[in-house]
Amino acid sequence: MKVLLIGGGGREHALAWKISQSKKVHSIYCIPGNGGISEIADCVNIDIHDLGGLVRFTKQEHIDMVVVGPENPLAIGIVDHFEEEGIPIFGPRKKGAQIESSKVFAKNLMEKYNIPTASFKVFHNYQNAYDYVNEIGAPYVIKADGLAAGKGAYVIKDNNEGKMVLRNVMLDRIHGDAGERVIIEQFLPGIEASYLAFTDGKSILPLLASQDHKPLLDYDKGPNTGGMGAYTPIPFIDNRMEIEINSTIMKRTIDALKSEGADYTGVLYGGLMIMEERKPYVIEFNARLGDPETQPILFKMQSDIVQVIQSCIDGNLDETKTIEWREGVSICVVIASRGYPEKSEKGIIIKGLDDLKNRKDVMVFHAGTKKRGNDFFTAGGRVLGVTAIGETYSDAIKKVYDAVSCIKFEGMQYRKDIGAKALSYLEK
Ligand SMILES: Nc1ncnc2c1ncn2[C@@H]1O[C@H](COP(=O)(O)OP(=O)(O)O)[C@@H](O)[C@H]1O
Ligand SMILES: [Mg+2]
Repeated sequence: MKVLLIGGGGREHALAWKISQSKKVHSIYCIPGNGGISEIADCVNIDIHDLGGLVRFTKQEHIDMVVVGPENPLAIGIVDHFEEEGIPIFGPRKKGAQIESSKVFAKNLMEKYNIPTASFKVFHNYQNAYDYVNEIGAPYVIKADGLAAGKGAYVIKDNNEGKMVLRNVMLDRIHGDAGERVIIEQFLPGIEASYLAFTDGKSILPLLASQDHKPLLDYDKGPNTGGMGAYTPIPFIDNRMEIEINSTIMKRTIDALKSEGADYTGVLYGGLMIMEERKPYVIEFNARLGDPETQPILFKMQSDIVQVIQSCIDGNLDETKTIEWREGVSICVVIASRGYPEKSEKGIIIKGLDDLKNRKDVMVFHAGTKKRGNDFFTAGGRVLGVTAIGETYSDAIKKVYDAVSCIKFEGMQYRKDIGAKALSYLEK
């Protein structure tokens, strides 16, 4: 079968790599793809928001299955569009994708269906929001309702800062229409975890719990990014907690969406806060796989992902009981270009990739790269995700940083503490 993958980051390289292992698949196309993906798929340059153009390409190439990586095409209804054309596609329709594209939609759903989350209020009016933060005082969290490329949520520790954020988001509209409404919610202290599951709208098939690292610098300092690294599994998420997350959050949310007339197919991503008394709360939902979490997770996945995706599309996911995983701990360290996340350099040659090619325990997934001849060059932003599997957390940390040390490009920046949190949880 022929598979078309939409997107061009590390998540999509991991997906392309995993899809390429399926016996069912003989060719893969990727729009737009990247340097690494171009080694296993035909990369085609079409704007991923041009739904008409994407459908034309899919028909012309007789594609059998479309897999969507990023949130933006989902938010504008790529799945509805392809379904109308009778083309099998993996992802939620526009209505269900609102769980990510509108935080107000997600919070209202959680409130209505008793899914554990921080208490909140919605504001359309700057003055009302201003009066409210004066009344409650810090700490609290302000969030723009719409998609803001991971930059629309602000944890407020000081009320003056909170007022400035309200002004920027609601009056100056630094996130555009995404700031038309804001949520002001209770600050939840705890440990964050990403919990992802495949779903056909009726049952769920969970992936391994993982932990992202959003801030640019070690020990969670510096500005927020798209994610600088991730590892899986998480030591404190045991079987009992997984059962609780599956029932009180993941399955309940899928059922809630169904009750609201939004049959949800694809991946549901729960961004969770595990509170002091080991209670999981939802911070946000995403309507797709996370990046970088997908990289260490898929590196551990042994089952055929295409078969799982097919049963989500066909509505018989309940026939797949579990996913088989490779033993061990998987860690991904993201290497970004100089200047990221504000701006970033491109066009710089990357050295050392060949040395890592045939290691059983190491994979380098590409994000912002371009291939020219036999060489790879940076294309800005996050450039590579170096992923390694080890027997223990310490072993995986050693392996992944050993691999990172083989890679060289001018201005490269990466965190040196990915995985360290897992060690600290183990000590407690
Ligand atoms: N209620 C909350 N309590 C504590 N921290 C929060 C809360 N909501 C969000 N955060 C922090 O802000 C980050 C971004 O918020 P999130 O809702 O995930 O928005 P987005 O990913 O769309 O930017 C979270 O990863 C978390 O670190
Ligand atoms: Mg988030």
